Amino acid sequence: AKVAGAAVIVHKGEHRHFMAKEIHEQPKVVGQTLAQYIARDGTIRLPAGVDVDFGTVDRVSIVACGTSFYAGLIAKYWFERYARLPVEIDIASEFRYRDVPFGAGNLAIFVSQSGETADTLASLEFAKTHGQHVLSVVNVQTSTMARSSDIVMPTLAGPEIGVASTKAFTCQLAILLCIAIAAGRSRGVLSTEDERSLVRALAQIPDYMAHALELEPKVHELAREIARARDALFIGRGTNYPLALEGALKLKEVTYIHAEGYAAGELKHGPIALIDKGLPVIVIAPYDATFEKTMSNMQEVIARGGRIILLTDERGAALAASSGCSVLALPDIPPAVAPLALAVPLQLLAYHSAAIMGTDVDQPRNLAKSVTVE
Ligand code: G6P
Repeated sequence: AKVAGAAVIVHKGEHRHFMAKEIHEQPKVVGQTLAQYIARDGTIRLPAGVDVDFGTVDRVSIVACGTSFYAGLIAKYWFERYARLPVEIDIASEFRYRDVPFGAGNLAIFVSQSGETADTLASLEFAKTHGQHVLSVVNVQTSTMARSSDIVMPTLAGPEIGVASTKAFTCQLAILLCIAIAAGRSRGVLSTEDERSLVRALAQIPDYMAHALELEPKVHELAREIARARDALFIGRGTNYPLALEGALKLKEVTYIHAEGYAAGELKHGPIALIDKGLPVIVIAPYDATFEKTMSNMQEVIARGGRIILLTDERGAALAASSGCSVLALPDIPPAVAPLALAVPLQLLAYHSAAIMGTDVDQPRNLAKSVTVE
């Protein structure tokens, strides 16, 4: 089967669905995307046209929809940590109707795979009307958004056919992290040594993603259980919180199973009431500063009969060994770049659950690849 786009014909190759193909392409396309920004000397080099003086930026606004919004939410943690920049992030359909007090030192970043999402485009115009310098991270380089922005930083994911976004998401993350690191350097927050060590981690991302893909047989086993579930919960802290939101979105998009993502610390403020015997709870917790806290949330779920799938790294897996839950363990990955690898098993879990259930994986009911209505 093939799908004809404006000028390209894309094949599924050996895969049953475009979604599977696109998940598997990630080490390659993320590597290509990163190659645009990593200089030979091991530092980040933003393209010549990117003339942002981060020293004078005092706030970043990130605006997007759907999966692109979750990429922005992860980037918020990065901008704060690596560049000490306050970030305001909003979904486009809210942002455009708010009375946003734009300031001169604001940088407005728009994130979109298609570059045609109506609400994101309207938000971009709204920001421009208020004199904002507009930077967009966009996959379709001929799109309206690419043409309307002051600065375009293209993701090189290639055509994404599956309606549920996968490879565009991780390419967006790659670029947003590069911007955060470049901002941190020019603001004097990161030393050259800090920058080089982050860039070394960036350069390893394709390998980490390839390791994540090796979890596929185990994810497939777990997907058999998910495919029988009525609801599922995803929890995490820090950048694992937006990943939990994205994991839940992916699952509901392609399986139609009711899924919710929550910050692990919010569990006790409501969602814990939902937990009863057998509810699948996907806990995203590599070994990091919040690992122990998330483990105690996980114990609360176990005590109420919830069925845990723990997505972690080797250190986390060793510490959680006695908990009796199913574990998906990646190698130990530097926290800065971990979200890109952790996204992969979540995508695979959604994909395999949907494939087992026999839904229309690439064209889920009621959804569109590019939402051009408001
Ligand atoms: C639709 C798609 C999603 C996508 C969202 C935002 O809902 O089905 O996969 O994340 O639009 O699209 P954009 O092209 O702006 O990233």
